[in-house]
Amino acid sequence: MNIVNSRIAKDSSQRTPAEDTLKKTPKAACLIDLPKITDHRGNLTFIEGNRHVPFSIERVYYLYDVPAGALRGGHAHKKLQQFIIAASGSFTVVVDDGRKRRKFFLNRPHYGLFIPHMVWRELENFSSGSICVVLASEVYEESDYFRSYKRFLKALK
Ligand code: TYD
Repeated sequence: MNIVNSRIAKDSSQRTPAEDTLKKTPKAACLIDLPKITDHRGNLTFIEGNRHVPFSIERVYYLYDVPAGALRGGHAHKKLQQFIIAASGSFTVVVDDGRKRRKFFLNRPHYGLFIPHMVWRELENFSSGSICVVLASEVYEESDYFRSYKRFLKALK
């Protein structure tokens, strides 16, 4: 599997095709390319759990009407895995596994960022009108969150 993490995902060679993710669940956050059916009527992208993302999709939520300068996220999950897509507009996702901080710029709906469990994430620089769609491996459970960065780091030890 050739997973390449990149700061900015402009070049498709920096992204992993969706079906490669099934060979082994990525241990680090990484960009995954999704299928794209191009058509003169417009493009279509689809996502199937355990095929294009390495988990069963138990929940979908989205962020929208995010005011300029707002920060989202600011937490990690004990068990939850997520896949984040810029369905419209753009934003930056900062991920931190306790050793290294990396930034991913999302600006197209035909790829997304996979985030494994125990990775701190912050979302920032939302463009006007942007929509952030999140696919999640579990239903919402507040007890799955680390909302304190200090506690997250402690749990990693
Ligand atoms: P939070 O996870 O802190 O948002 P974000 O990480 O995107 O900044 O959630 C904000 C609020 O919404 C919090 O009170 C929990 C609630 N919430 C749900 O009830 N269900 C959900 O699926 C999610 C994601 C959040």
